[in-house]
Amino acid sequence: MCGIIGYIGKDKALPRILNGLKFLEYRGYDSAGIAYVVNNKVEIKKEIGRISSLEKEINYDTETYMGIGHTRWATHGEPFKINSHPHQVGKFTVVHNGIIENYAKLKNKLENMNITFKSDTDTEVIPALLNYYYSKEKDILKTIKKTINDLEGSYALGIICDDDYENIYAVRFGSPLIIAKDKNGNFIASDVPAILAYTNKYILLNELEIAKVSKNNIEVYNKDLELVSYVEKIFEGSQESALLNGYDHYMLKEINEEDKVFLDTFNYYVQNGKFKNTMPDFKKYKNIHIVACGSAYYVGIIASSIIEELCNIPVYVEVASEYRYKKVFYDKDTLVIIISQSGETADSLAALRKSCADNIDTLAIVNVVASSIAREAKYVLYVKAGPEIAVATTKAFLAQITLLILLAIKLAKKDALLKEFIGLEKLIKKLLNQDYKDVALSIYKNSNVFFIGRGIDYGICLEGSLKLKETSYINSVAFQAGELKHGSISLIEVGTPVIGICTKKDMSKKTISNIKEVKSRGAYVIYITNDTVVDKFYDKLIILPDAHEIVMPILSVIPLQLIAYEVAKLRGCDIDKPRNLAKSVTVE
Ligand code: G6P
Repeated sequence: MCGIIGYIGKDKALPRILNGLKFLEYRGYDSAGIAYVVNNKVEIKKEIGRISSLEKEINYDTETYMGIGHTRWATHGEPFKINSHPHQVGKFTVVHNGIIENYAKLKNKLENMNITFKSDTDTEVIPALLNYYYSKEKDILKTIKKTINDLEGSYALGIICDDDYENIYAVRFGSPLIIAKDKNGNFIASDVPAILAYTNKYILLNELEIAKVSKNNIEVYNKDLELVSYVEKIFEGSQESALLNGYDHYMLKEINEEDKVFLDTFNYYVQNGKFKNTMPDFKKYKNIHIVACGSAYYVGIIASSIIEELCNIPVYVEVASEYRYKKVFYDKDTLVIIISQSGETADSLAALRKSCADNIDTLAIVNVVASSIAREAKYVLYVKAGPEIAVATTKAFLAQITLLILLAIKLAKKDALLKEFIGLEKLIKKLLNQDYKDVALSIYKNSNVFFIGRGIDYGICLEGSLKLKETSYINSVAFQAGELKHGSISLIEVGTPVIGICTKKDMSKKTISNIKEVKSRGAYVIYITNDTVVDKFYDKLIILPDAHEIVMPILSVIPLQLIAYEVAKLRGCDIDKPRNLAKSVTVE
């Protein structure tokens, strides 16, 4: 995982490349680097840490009109300068997003030919191979073709060759890459927000296509090096949607977009109380597998309860990193649903490919349009969350939940339930406008927090717990409310915060009993419910707007997201870019 960008044109390259990198920082931020052509030679600058550290070393006025940049999430080799991109061997300078799985074998082969390596990365074999093949081929396109033939794994590459400072070359397989057109020049980039300050016109590079990008021309070649045509796309979202827009953090901005995200997603599939034809009929499937990672997996857990209950068909949920390697039992009536915000998560993509290889029908639930998972699945349904920049997902989670509930209703042919969504955006707004600082103050100094709930509420607890730990670094665990007493209750001490959730009114007596069990052992209880509460067994109470049970997960997650945000803020954490994480995990 990592972000890459390149620019060639009439304008000075460094401001464009550095600005673009800032919009790719969500893909990793262990180190950053840039290579640019000045006085007819390639200069390289690298710094450990954020783009802001690299920026201090850069003179924006440098007379350079072409360059490539990289922001790194370390996989092979520690986050040292030597392992940072760009990597240069002989005449070739390269930035890479992805992972070269057979790099050790290739490195060994190249070392036996007396080629030496400076870094511990998998990437360095790429410029080494390019340089080696170029010495034989003397043709850059043929050289790139030969090089990628040797590579196993995934890559999006930006390449500069010392014999051709008129072009940047780019190629991709398994990692995303776009080419963008500006009036004064052209870009390559891992993602659209990186170029939105300059242009909204872009081309999606297909797998194994090679792009030759000059200041006023873009040529795309297929793997047989024949010129191919391409379709120019226009990005519909505004650049503002990728900016902070007055909020302190992207996480807060994105949570505050949830009323709109809900409506956009709902209205894309439903009109006047009826499903539009944007929602296909999946009724021929008699069992469902849901596969995903992280928060998207928790969406799967919640969706499985709803689908089983409503549609009376079995749903098997598994994390993608397990699913891809385990024996799974399908039949011809199985539908495999892959849920992924980015559409690029390596394990989810591998799980999808496994199902496709087994000839099982697949459905992708994705936010990023035309991402790998979206393109490879048999069917794709998009959530309408818009660009999500904060590493911790919030609005995309809410949009995924919305869409999965709609899917369950469609499958169950219970369209009458669609009326329960009417006006929900107002209830979402109400929750967004509440203040959760008080709750956060009662939590932020603790080192352990528990979340308990039953059924769907347990799924929401898992997400609330993940949000808290990833943004505030407080250890936190979610339990099925009835299960805590089977061992883990021994961790409850006087003052340990326990957040209990109950949105299933027929279960509230059971959940409340479990809450009382921890309360009587000294826990500090925060209770979240839409039910009437008569007894005072809690320390803090959050009342959710009352709505039909089927839409409650869309509401109940909001306080948990905002509590995590407020706690992280009180603890002074790097909210949008928590340590050790990356938004799009394109490695196994
Ligand atoms: C990373 C992110 C998580 C996300 C997971 C799955 O681990 O930090 O927030 O839930 O990947 O990402 P996806 O893009 O497939 O939904």
